[in-house]
Amino acid sequence: MSNSANVTPNDLSAFWMPFTSNRQFKKAPRMFVAAKDMHYTTSDGRQVLDGTAGLWCCNAGHCRPKITEAIQKQAAELDYAPAFQMGHPKAFELANRLVDIAPEGLNHVLFTNSGSESVETALKLALAYHKVRGEGSRTRLIGRERAYHGVNFGGISVGGIVTNRKMFGTLLAGVDHMPHTHNLSKNAFSKGPPEYGTELADELERIVTLHDASTIAAVIVEPVAGSTGVLIPPMGYLKRLREITKKHGILLIFDEVITGFGRLGTPFGADYFGVTPDMMVTAKGLTNGVIPMGAVLVSSEIHDTFMTGPEHMIEFFHGYTYSGNPIASAAGLATLETYREEGLLTRGKEMGEYFGEALHSLKGEPHVIDIRNIGLVGAVELEPIAGSPTKRAFSAFVKGFESGFLVRTTGDIIAMSPPLIVEKHHIDELIEGLRKVLKAID
Ligand SMILES: Cc1ncc(COP(=O)(O)O)c(C=O)c1O
Repeated sequence: MSNSANVTPNDLSAFWMPFTSNRQFKKAPRMFVAAKDMHYTTSDGRQVLDGTAGLWCCNAGHCRPKITEAIQKQAAELDYAPAFQMGHPKAFELANRLVDIAPEGLNHVLFTNSGSESVETALKLALAYHKVRGEGSRTRLIGRERAYHGVNFGGISVGGIVTNRKMFGTLLAGVDHMPHTHNLSKNAFSKGPPEYGTELADELERIVTLHDASTIAAVIVEPVAGSTGVLIPPMGYLKRLREITKKHGILLIFDEVITGFGRLGTPFGADYFGVTPDMMVTAKGLTNGVIPMGAVLVSSEIHDTFMTGPEHMIEFFHGYTYSGNPIASAAGLATLETYREEGLLTRGKEMGEYFGEALHSLKGEPHVIDIRNIGLVGAVELEPIAGSPTKRAFSAFVKGFESGFLVRTTGDIIAMSPPLIVEKHHIDELIEGLRKVLKAID
């Protein structure tokens, strides 16, 4: 008898859920069965306003017709084509469309299937780039405290969230971390990039002095750290990182898995901050979250460095079975087209102003110790319950879900990142819903 014969259709035990308190969830499941535009439908037939664009990924809202149709059509026409030594037109077309909207100079694209894989791809490319150029001693990778770069070994090594690292041994060797930039005593209730902390970028100089630039391959940062609880860089911080990395021949990688595709009111975080990295790591909004896909955009300098040697040789020994998968490529093209038609890559600028004002009106509500916002991303940080960190924000999340809106929590931080199609009345509903919840929780 197969294992599945022992499991009833609604048995929740077999699926070991990701980043979830499984036992708690399975006692009181929260299930979505449908979605449209700004709303989810729950299994008990309620509408829930999506305040988080799924997991920061459904930037155009849910079940958008153009994307759905493109996937259906592609699945019936060319379901799969080998990714190595063979091609299909849509992957090339999508790469071109991405380059069109990317900051100038990022002219080449490697496809992956997730943010985590995009991070690994970028880190490996950084090491290989220096090796190909004859600077193979550049093997160190520099990340930042509190960073989230996915869950694979490279990503958790350069990442800086202790719970994601401490179970997994010694991780990659030769990694160092810059300090994070979160400072409540100086920057609480900042609107947009906070004023204090630009000089924290100079910590990179200290790391360079410690290890020597000749040993450092790359620095990776999220332009705005999302998953760790929305940490917005101090004014001028990223520009300073760019200057320092350039000065020392170190590659700068922006992890734009969250900040990409309009989240800050610009196509990418790089555009918002006016800083062009050497590589940009993306996923999530690339296909509106509908089909797994990621992309790493790289400079011509990096690409061209590999395009030497005999032409029959593979230039970079890396890739995935599903790199540039036809259905994902079709979803990506339809997603970019939807963003273009509806002006979504820049809509967050105007809507972000309204969202920011509404969010900051929660100042003074119970437990609130900070509010921060940029584009269509915002966070409300709560005073933790003494001895029970994370509990207060988690009960806000559950109460919010029960009362009809979805937020996301990390520690005692409530994060919001609504789909970019959000209207003012949705923002009012979300913020007033959260206000009620804050007043109701312990
Ligand atoms: C900045 C950043 N990088 C990487 C990832 C990992 O992406 P994925 O979950 O698709 O592997 C995430 C996911 O939230 C992210 O926010």
